[in-house]
Amino acid sequence: MELLGIDVGGSGIKGALVNVETGKLTSERHRIPTPQPATPENVAKTIKELVTHFNWKGKVGCGFPTPLQHAKCLTGGNLNKDWKGTQVDALFNKETGNEFFIINDADAAGLAEMNFGAGKNVKGVVIMITIGTGIGSGIFLDGKLLPNSELGHVLYKNGDIFEKYASDAARKRDDLSKKKWGKRLHEYFEHINLLLSPDLFIVGGGASKKLDRLEKQFKLAVPIVPAEAENNAGIIGAALAAKYGLK
Ligand code: BGC
Repeated sequence: MELLGIDVGGSGIKGALVNVETGKLTSERHRIPTPQPATPENVAKTIKELVTHFNWKGKVGCGFPTPLQHAKCLTGGNLNKDWKGTQVDALFNKETGNEFFIINDADAAGLAEMNFGAGKNVKGVVIMITIGTGIGSGIFLDGKLLPNSELGHVLYKNGDIFEKYASDAARKRDDLSKKKWGKRLHEYFEHINLLLSPDLFIVGGGASKKLDRLEKQFKLAVPIVPAEAENNAGIIGAALAAKYGLK
């Protein structure tokens, strides 16, 4: 079965058709820069453009980069404050006429990895951490998702959230070398490891491609591995949300 998966990010909104049995893309990826300001109205128009690009009439799965509960935004995250309280599936359905299944973007990336990638057949607790503009998380027990976790929001010792200290945006802001960024990420993984003692961490987002150079700083016994689908994990997992009817 083929479904449309869309990954909404702070800088780009990406979509592709996905074979949800194999996890392979069956079309080219199509990327449209995230409109600025990234208000509900503007993003809904971009979603419509993507759906029209693929001439897609069926169900759409979508990974969304804000705290969510049953597809409703709890805050606007790094997108725009106007998202707070928005029922995202209803908004996109109204704009396009398609049925939408909205889940958190890191939950989506984790679903892809658990089904087809680094977490396939791994039992116990697996934590997907996506490191980009924000830090997102997806927690799995024996392959089953515990939705809506926000492990980028645990507090760092300065009282701010860890995302502000260790994300890729923090690296750029503070002009960190790989070594310094790796040390910050190590502090982060150490903290999450203390809280949840997972059997495996999977890293997605921009940091996944640089993991070989960052991991010199990682001194934990638990394995920390890159997402196998790299940039496509969010799209593939989004399509799975539509397959499984998750919201
Ligand atoms: C948001 C998460 C999201 C992550 C990655 C964070 O700022 O709170 O919901 O998963 O960014 O996009």
